[in-house]
Amino acid sequence: MRVLGIESSCDECAAAVLDEAGRLLSSVVSSQIPIHAPYGGVVPELASRDHLRRILPTIREALSRAGCTLRDIDGLGVTRGPGLIGSLLVGVVAARTLSLVLERPVVGVNHLEAHLHAAFLERPDLGYPHLGLVVSGGHTSLFRVDGVGKLKLIGQTRDDAAGEAFDKAAKLLGLGYPGGVAIQSAAAGGDPQALCFPRPLPGKRPEFSFSGLKTSLAVHVKRHGVPAGQALADVAASFQEAVVDTLVKKTLAAARREKLSRVVVAGGVAANQRLRTVMQERGRSEELEVVFPSLSLCTDNAAMVAALARQYLLAGRDDRADLDADASLSWNAGSI
Ligand code: KG4
Ligand code: ZN
Repeated sequence: MRVLGIESSCDECAAAVLDEAGRLLSSVVSSQIPIHAPYGGVVPELASRDHLRRILPTIREALSRAGCTLRDIDGLGVTRGPGLIGSLLVGVVAARTLSLVLERPVVGVNHLEAHLHAAFLERPDLGYPHLGLVVSGGHTSLFRVDGVGKLKLIGQTRDDAAGEAFDKAAKLLGLGYPGGVAIQSAAAGGDPQALCFPRPLPGKRPEFSFSGLKTSLAVHVKRHGVPAGQALADVAASFQEAVVDTLVKKTLAAARREKLSRVVVAGGVAANQRLRTVMQERGRSEELEVVFPSLSLCTDNAAMVAALARQYLLAGRDDRADLDADASLSWNAGSI
């Protein structure tokens, strides 16, 4: 089954093609960063309008790089939620229309499950069960993953997501958008122990809270002004360390409690180099296998959507008749 995947849940317009064996033939991501950067965050109305402009050229590019045409596609997959409703609708309408015209099945997938499933593109042998941490701009959620469509939520953030914390911190420090990469770059050469930012909700409970951390940075900036030079590097490194430390401790504790020996970390924040290093190191010392998809598969992309949709398509699912976007799609709405 040759699958075309489409992703448009937030500010990345993406399309990807998998071959009959599930190998990635092409993955195209058309970023909207220059459009949203002046506003310091994603402007939903601008995002959906840009998706509308880019969706067909992005699909065409993915097909061309894969060396095929629409007629070669055996099934389609698209993110149907959660996300920004205007953005989601563009991808969903495109996928459903193509499915009807081509008379091929289409499957709407959950964006969070797709993030976690990205790991299988590089590790087809990964297997189940494992612990999954989705850490992105909108989510910080821990799942026990027992199979495709078999996710059990173990815990999540009570307020801000980790990516949101990075984005807000970058704004406070005048580092621009998107914030995660900006903080990571600013932290280079900084001392992660220079400032002691709070580790929210200490203890083993699998719950996160990042809004206090952001407030703590806001208070620091108010007292001392926006730092520059080495002081900026120290603040960025210390902030990053607080987020990383919390994510690592809570995730590894959850894996132990669930008696799971494998951990998958996915979503945009999983591209953070410090998180990758610390999670791998501490995981190794506790004899846990920690799997991170490569960087381009962590941030939003359509390869993960195609890979997950392929599993549902192979199981015979077809949402052609009633596929719709759902901005607040629940994590457990995708079972086969
Ligand atoms: O998964 P994603 O691309 O979109 C959502 O589904 O939200 O995640 C975007 C988030 C943003 O908050 C961005 O700042 C963060 O991922 N991010 C990072 C890094 N790259 C992206 N955070 C920390 N370090 C990074 N290198
Ligand atoms: Zn995402």
